[in-house]
Amino acid sequence: MAKKKKQKVINKVDALADAMQHMQNLLSEEDFEALQQELAQPLRQAIRLNPLKVNPHSVIGDWQQRFGWQTSPIAYCKHGYWIDEAQTPISKPLQYHFGQYYIQDAASMLPVELFDFPVDQPLVLDMAASPGGKTTHILSKIMDKGFVIANDASKSRLTALQLVLQNWGALNVGVTAFNGESFGQWYPNTFDGVLLDAPCSMQNLRNTESHPMRAITDSERQNLSGRQQRLLHSALLAVKVGGEVVYATCTLSPEEDEIVLDQIKKLLGSKIEIVDMNSKLPQPAGALADWDGIKFDLQVQHGLRIWPHLFQTSGFFSAKIRKIDGFDVENQMPAPSRDMRDIGWLPMTKSDQQWLGAYLQENYDFDLSNWQDEQDVDLVQYKQKVFAFPKAYFDHFDGLPVQMLGMLMGQVQGEQFLPNHDFITRFYNLFAEGRITLNPQNEQAWLRGEDLHDLSLDGKPNGIILITCNQAGEYIGLGKVTSNRYRNLLPRRLFL
Ligand SMILES: C[S@@+](CC[C@H](N)C(=O)[O-])C[C@H]1O[C@@H](n2cnc3c(N)ncnc32)[C@H](O)[C@@H]1O
Repeated sequence: MAKKKKQKVINKVDALADAMQHMQNLLSEEDFEALQQELAQPLRQAIRLNPLKVNPHSVIGDWQQRFGWQTSPIAYCKHGYWIDEAQTPISKPLQYHFGQYYIQDAASMLPVELFDFPVDQPLVLDMAASPGGKTTHILSKIMDKGFVIANDASKSRLTALQLVLQNWGALNVGVTAFNGESFGQWYPNTFDGVLLDAPCSMQNLRNTESHPMRAITDSERQNLSGRQQRLLHSALLAVKVGGEVVYATCTLSPEEDEIVLDQIKKLLGSKIEIVDMNSKLPQPAGALADWDGIKFDLQVQHGLRIWPHLFQTSGFFSAKIRKIDGFDVENQMPAPSRDMRDIGWLPMTKSDQQWLGAYLQENYDFDLSNWQDEQDVDLVQYKQKVFAFPKAYFDHFDGLPVQMLGMLMGQVQGEQFLPNHDFITRFYNLFAEGRITLNPQNEQAWLRGEDLHDLSLDGKPNGIILITCNQAGEYIGLGKVTSNRYRNLLPRRLFL
């Protein structure tokens, strides 16, 4: 066992040494030394706020006080903050587990910030989305309007993606599990934006526990480069003329960055433009002009090569490409299709919707039909479960098999409706009634997962109640009113 662990450590060191050797001739001696010094430091911590759940203007000051955080804004990311000192570690607060912010390497906050989405209901494809960090960023940027397809080819990575999206409070989203290469043939000229955060060799030069580096052979690099080019071609087919593709990798290996851009530019010429986005950054991060005897197309230099020593992040690469002109789709094919009814998804009947609307109004003063109009969703039932499905899915992708769609609102149980934790965590402000506020002592017991016995139950509705705390009425979970207590329905993963 110990031998295995030692071997792993040696492999990690070898992988980093190997990658550094690959990088050495891309930098001046001075820069290479600065890079080595930076990599000896721990990675600078960063978070991105969830504007769907918190007010980004006020919350960060509040958290500085409460958690002893020293923060500063990340120049290129609207809701991104460096956390340079933290008395309470950033993964500890309940706010994190309630999806009010996401912990993310600041370099990974760059690609989504490069998009200029249309204001009105953009359609966005996140072609390689799992575990979903950048999908949450897209949803924040479009304030969950329009529709996002979060796709990932790896079935084993879909659970993580779904959990991240549910925790973020995502609504106008669908999760699919296809090879990204297919989208261009299925949906040419369809999306306003496509993010391709490509599968890559992960030569980001940060050897962390969660993202250990591994040694990469030349032939692996070539294979990855080929796959990245096919995926990027598919992304450019799938985007509308005038729309944008952002290409990103967490590697600094030129085969997977500049070469991919150069090849696609050679293939598509003036039909695409690699847009210079250096002005987004506090300092220029121009990509390579040539490498290994290959002189790149001039626009390749508009790519952003994020070196750790210049940006205090992991190594990263990103480029924005605009589609200027349409081009032919070879082998256009219909997308796969499946009738939802065949697998038990049924539109909620008018009378059931009326019942639910009246129930939510009476118990919580929540206006269901107004909410549906604002969120642009239809209600669909699967057995007792009630889901809000984005109308945009039916308008643009009706029948496309999805692993997850919209948001689970809750389930009908006899005469009652049990709202879902993720639904309430996002929309609890719209529930004016059916809530109680705990004192600080009860709050702690509640967060440990305990039921509460010593509260007056007089006048409280039967069924599910929203539990809040402090003066601001912050939501901390659902309780079920029984004859003598509030039963704690906080998901176990959230217990203190
Ligand atoms: C760099 S990761 C994506 C990280 C993600 N965008 C985020 O921000 O959390 C690349 C992803 O590509 C997926 N992938 C690999 N080959 C693919 C393909 N042919 N089509 C779509 N996704 C693919 C992998 O399963 C992996 O989850």
